[in-house]
Amino acid sequence: MRNFEEWDGAVLAELDQEWSKRIIFYETCASTNDEARRLAKAGSPAWRVILAENQTTGRGRRGQVWHCPPGTGIAMSVILRPDFSRNLWARLALATGLAVAEALDHFGLSAEVKWPNDVWVDRKKICGILVEAEDDFVIIGIGLNVNVSVFPSEMVDPATSLFLEIGELVGREEVLLMLLRRLESRVAQVANDFSAILAALRPRCALTGKRIELELPLGNLSGTMRGIGENGELLLEMESGEILGILQADRIRLKAE
Ligand code: BTN
Repeated sequence: MRNFEEWDGAVLAELDQEWSKRIIFYETCASTNDEARRLAKAGSPAWRVILAENQTTGRGRRGQVWHCPPGTGIAMSVILRPDFSRNLWARLALATGLAVAEALDHFGLSAEVKWPNDVWVDRKKICGILVEAEDDFVIIGIGLNVNVSVFPSEMVDPATSLFLEIGELVGREEVLLMLLRRLESRVAQVANDFSAILAALRPRCALTGKRIELELPLGNLSGTMRGIGENGELLLEMESGEILGILQADRIRLKAE
């Protein structure tokens, strides 16, 4: 009987020799993003994957804590060394959200992306992404709820997992490899074929047509989301009919219909 609660290196190697060689596994670390940064600074090549069963200080965006009970999720960080202009690095967040959503398709889910890169299933968050850039590398941190069955009651946003959506336990190794393959192929398009990313992302955009409120550094803005612009910006239609392109927001809330 397969034990879904433990990472199985043999299963990983059998499924994909090449990827399994690039994965560095930690039973426990503070944060895979921090560990990936440390390794990148020490010269680690691109596409090393730091995977942890336990994170003692797993981080989300806006200083939030990322919870993932051991044995149930994927907490990983991928080191990238983009060979394209830094101006385009923000696109990596969109490419990652799309890659995760596409990986989930293979498990029968219909996943959407909440701009820029949360992944939702059935209007609940299944995956959080934390992209952090340094001088010559980028760390893509991904937390995906795979076999989580219960979430802490104090969580702000409703959450879900593959297990809760499908009704059965899923092999984390299969999910991880599917995710890495989709990530590799979408990252390859970031600089030269971003229109392919946009074309796949737009129909999956959870907020398009919805009334939303954005928290921005200078105050809040409300309007209707009109999709994603050519540079990956959120298009917000104001009451006046004017459309603003938003490149970054601290938080986005769906407003009651
Ligand atoms: C968010 O939704 O706020 C982003 C959550 C990102 C969590 C992942 S888990 C792996 C990686 N290591 C971290 O400390 N954070 C990211």
